[in-house]
Amino acid sequence: MMDIIKTHFALNKKRVKGQPFNWAGPVFLFTNENIADYLKKLGNVSGKDVLTVAASGDHAFESFLCGAKHVDTFDINYLQKHVMELKTKMIKNLSYHDFMRFFFSHKKFFDREIIRPIWNKLSPGTRMFLKKYYERKDQVMFVYGSSQDSYYNLDKISYINDEKAYEHLGKILPDKIRFKHTDISNISNKFDGVYDIILMSNIFEYMFTEIQDVPERIMTFRDKILMPIADKNLNPNGGVMCFNYRWYTDNVKYREMIDAIQRYMAQSVDNFDTHKHVIDMIDVPTSTILKDRPDVITTLTQKVR
Ligand SMILES: C[S@@+](CC[C@H](N)C(=O)[O-])C[C@H]1O[C@@H](n2cnc3c(N)ncnc32)[C@H](O)[C@@H]1O
Repeated sequence: MMDIIKTHFALNKKRVKGQPFNWAGPVFLFTNENIADYLKKLGNVSGKDVLTVAASGDHAFESFLCGAKHVDTFDINYLQKHVMELKTKMIKNLSYHDFMRFFFSHKKFFDREIIRPIWNKLSPGTRMFLKKYYERKDQVMFVYGSSQDSYYNLDKISYINDEKAYEHLGKILPDKIRFKHTDISNISNKFDGVYDIILMSNIFEYMFTEIQDVPERIMTFRDKILMPIADKNLNPNGGVMCFNYRWYTDNVKYREMIDAIQRYMAQSVDNFDTHKHVIDMIDVPTSTILKDRPDVITTLTQKVR
């Protein structure tokens, strides 16, 4: 019952494009990151427990495709839960062809006939989310107008580009992916589990923006956001958090900054801590149309000293 009440209030809230992320904002339908490649480069996802931002569900889906054993999700926007649920049920129960028509055919975009076979499998909240769309055709429900917006990096999403990956995902996805509605700064209070990998997308980009100096901002994010989560929810022996996904990055300059952060951390008083934390970066093949610079994701790994 709580779900449907929360969804009702979220959907009745006026949604405005371009506002900071909030509990009832417009939703992402797909990712704009190259998650598949950075998870492959991270390696060793197989058999692991993952906690990730929910967003469109794509971080969770790519984690499962890389062999994750279990995936839990969180998001500040309650409505992302419904996007993730809808896509999960579609991938598990509908053909690749129907999925593609529903999201990418201009005429059949969000066509209710396509999802009729799974309507009764959807939670009341997700049905209400869809009904609201059908009643108002309210485009402000989506961050970008349609699924085909060039900001989505569809050519980097495994299960979109490979029908076999879609079918495989349908077999390995659980019926329901656990979702908790929370701001990133409250994760350690909301989750009790310990995870091997935690994915935070580019949430960093919107936090501590008053700090101009990027290394200082990363250190502030580490102290205020990452450390409480690392203490409680990150595997002490090799757990990794992926944060600060950046597009179109001068990776040579970014590498210099990461090296400087590593030198600083090597000298830090935190060396008395029982755990060692290493900040590093992964170059990711670009997900933008501007091909000359890669994307980059910053990582923090926790190890026992
Ligand atoms: C930062 S957005 C950007 C889209 C992302 N690059 C992707 O590929 O999906 C990803 C998700 O983070 C959520 N988010 C933003 N700020 C958050 C915060 N402080 N705590 C928890 N989730 C947050 C948004 O609601 C959104 O669903």
